[in-house]
Amino acid sequence: MSTFVAITRGVSPAFASCELTHLERIPIDVTLAVEQHAAYERALESLGCQVEGIPATQDLPDCVFVEDAAVVLDEVAILMRPGAEPRRGEVQAVARALLPHRPILSLEPPATMDGGDVMVVDRAIFVGASSRTNLPGIEQLRQMVAPLGYALHPVSVSGCLHLKSAVTALDEATLLINPSRARADQFRGFAFIEVDEAEPTAANIVRVGPHLIYSAGFPRTLGKLQERGYEVTAVDVSEIAKAEGAVTCCSLIFRPLTPGD
Ligand code: GLY
Repeated sequence: MSTFVAITRGVSPAFASCELTHLERIPIDVTLAVEQHAAYERALESLGCQVEGIPATQDLPDCVFVEDAAVVLDEVAILMRPGAEPRRGEVQAVARALLPHRPILSLEPPATMDGGDVMVVDRAIFVGASSRTNLPGIEQLRQMVAPLGYALHPVSVSGCLHLKSAVTALDEATLLINPSRARADQFRGFAFIEVDEAEPTAANIVRVGPHLIYSAGFPRTLGKLQERGYEVTAVDVSEIAKAEGAVTCCSLIFRPLTPGD
């Protein structure tokens, strides 16, 4: 059995019509995006993930960004209600993919929340109050996770789409952060590695157990991480980045339930 399950979804033929909030629209090479996504899935497999891919659809340009559709904890999966109305249709297929793995809960209107705003580190859940995530969403999530023993911490974020555009975990004790997008004092008790000043969008990294997958587009910050001893697999995600996406956005990674769980 693989150590992790990774839910992914293919790149839509309509990817170039994705939602954009903080970026100007520039041409996206969709064929190259498909190749980059395949290489990303191979990196996941090489690090012990069983990749369960959902087919892309023409009518959901952003469907490759499965992270925004759900948050998967050890105990449950919680379906999001994405803040961008055209993205809400992405959730159903992700729910079907999660059904064999976890009991399913759902945020309900008027909640809005993108999974990209939710950073889970051990029993702490940090939620970015971004343009995609509202207070009813934060309150509903708090009520769902409190009985499971998670503490929810709303945090402010600015100048980027999601919390995880500003900060992601390198391990249980250390965060990779751009402090001009998310203030470090909101994450008490953590150590920090700051992105290189020349790479403001470099705070997004995926954990696969002790391993990390990271964009090859941030060589200065990558060098910092390697100097600190982190084992990092670099992948080219240039076309994903043009769609305001990053490496965490393209998967939902979790441990499979084992008999007795
Ligand atoms: N294109 C990613 C998003 O705006 O949701």
